[in-house]
Amino acid sequence: MKPAPIVQAFPAPSAAAAPLKRNIIAVASGKGGVGKTWFSITLAHAMAKAGKRALLFDGDLGLANVDVQLGVTPERDLASVIAGEATLAQAATRYEGGFDIIAGRSGSGSLATLPASRLMALRTELHLLSQTYDWVVLDLGAGIERTVRLLTAQSRACLVITTDEPTAITDAYAYIKVTAMEQLADGIQIVVNMVSNQREGERVYGTLLRACREFLKLEPPLAGIVRRDEHVRDSIRHQASLLTRHPASEAASDVEAIFQRLDQAL
Ligand SMILES: Nc1ncnc2c1ncn2[C@@H]1O[C@H](COP(=O)(O)OP(=O)(O)OP(=O)(O)O)[C@@H](O)[C@H]1O
Ligand SMILES: [Mg+2]
Repeated sequence: MKPAPIVQAFPAPSAAAAPLKRNIIAVASGKGGVGKTWFSITLAHAMAKAGKRALLFDGDLGLANVDVQLGVTPERDLASVIAGEATLAQAATRYEGGFDIIAGRSGSGSLATLPASRLMALRTELHLLSQTYDWVVLDLGAGIERTVRLLTAQSRACLVITTDEPTAITDAYAYIKVTAMEQLADGIQIVVNMVSNQREGERVYGTLLRACREFLKLEPPLAGIVRRDEHVRDSIRHQASLLTRHPASEAASDVEAIFQRLDQAL
C-alpha cells in the first residue's frame, strides 16, 4: 500500500530564499520516565511567559502524553498528519498557557515504525512550520532508535535529560554516543532532573561529562539542573502545567532559568 503523502504546510523554499532559522530544541533521553514530557511542556510554557511564540511538538507518537499531562484533546493531532488528513500547521492547537501544541495520539503506532522517507518529509514540514515561531520544543520518545533521533537532525540544540539513577546516566551516555557517531545532532546539552540540590546535579553531570570526555572526546555543556519537586506530581495529577498551577515552585524557577540561559546563548 502506498503511504498517504504528507501535505506540505508551505511551499518548499527556493534556492534564493533566506536560509531557515534553526530554532528547534529537541528533548531526548536514553532511559524512559526521566521527565522529558513534563520538562518539554514547562519549557514551552516558560518561552510563552517570556513573550515568545512557542510550539510544543509531541514526537513520541506511540506513547504520546503531552495531551494527557495537560488534559487537552485536540481535534487534530500528529496521527491525522501522518494519515494525510491535516497539515502540521492545521494540527497546531493553542493551549491556554499561551503556546501551541501538536499532540501525538497514544497507541496509534510509533513514529519509529514510519519509513525513513516519511519521517524526513515530516521533519522538513516541521522545519518550515518552525519559521513561524520563535522556538519549537520537540518532545521525543525515550531510547536510541535511529528513526526517532533522525527527527533531531538540524535542531538548534538537543537537550539530553538524565536523573541521578545510574541506569539513566548510562543510557544518556549511550544516546549521546550513537547520536555523536552518526553526527545526527550538534548542540547536545545535558539537563539533570529530579535531584535534591545543585550539588547533587553537578555530581551527576560530572559523571556523565567524564565518560563523554574519556570515550567520545566530547564535552556537552550543562544546560541546567532541575530539582525534585512535589509540585510537579501535583500539577500532572491535575492535568495542568506547573507554570499555571505552581508558578513559584522550585522546579518552575529551575526550568525558567534554563530557558533564559538557552535564549541568551543560542
Ligand atoms: N523535577 C521533578 N520533580 C518531581 N517529579 C518529577 C520531576 N520531573 C518529572 N517528575 C515525575 O516523573 C514522571 C515522569 O515524567 P515524564 O512523563 O515527563 O517522563 P518522560 O521522560 O517523558 O517519560 P517517557 O520516557 O515515558 O516519555 C512524572 O509523572 C512526574 O511525576
Ligand atoms: Mg514522555
